[in-house]
Amino acid sequence: MPRTPLIAGNWKMHGLKDALGYFDALAAAGVVADGREILVCPPATLVAAAAARAAIHGIAIGGQDCHTGTSGAHTGDISAAMLRDAGANYVIVGHSERRGDHGETDALVCAKARAARAAGLTPIICVGETLSEREAGQENGIVAGQLTGSIPGVFGPADFVVAYEPVWAIGTGRTASSDDIAAMHAFIRSSVPDGEQVRILYGGSVKPENAAAILALSDVDGALVGGASLDPASFADIAKSV
Ligand code: G3P
Repeated sequence: MPRTPLIAGNWKMHGLKDALGYFDALAAAGVVADGREILVCPPATLVAAAAARAAIHGIAIGGQDCHTGTSGAHTGDISAAMLRDAGANYVIVGHSERRGDHGETDALVCAKARAARAAGLTPIICVGETLSEREAGQENGIVAGQLTGSIPGVFGPADFVVAYEPVWAIGTGRTASSDDIAAMHAFIRSSVPDGEQVRILYGGSVKPENAAAILALSDVDGALVGGASLDPASFADIAKSV
């Protein structure tokens, strides 16, 4: 069964209301086309306005995190239902920056993924090893543990997306080699039930100049792009590489 490529932008903690023209520029660059899906994950403050603007062009919007609950006394947190209500269709969960900055465990990521699905969102579950773990040859064991701990057992292949983001490639300008990406994506695909049907994105210093080679790899079903997604022209060049 063909897996529709997904090109996702993670704006992280960037973006104010004056950035909303981004979606018009992205559409004008011709990114929306049959055979690929375009997703942008802005800060929570922009999700509703971005969803309204992006919907005009057939661009999907996602959140960057969600709480495990539906509502309650959780100051500052945002539920998956709130993201859905604002017009999001996806949500990133377990990004290494949240695993690191907020001590998010596999069990917490799993609960977030379940909450996302229950609210009608598709969770993008992030996994990836640190440089020291790779240098120690532990990458497969680390990622296998994250997959086992973070993907709810009740999920079918259409319920989630996996993003492989080697921590040492995020924001560094240093991507994993094509061989390493191919090997890890094949490993992930073999490690999850019905893996042939699961979309696996690569993230970590994806740029216009390396996107085509990465997206051409057989087990890469798209990209999760950070810095290069902030510029619509760069993000468009990446999207049009698939
Ligand atoms: O979630 C995507 C992000 O972690 C990758 O960041 O700047 O290396 O593309 P960047």
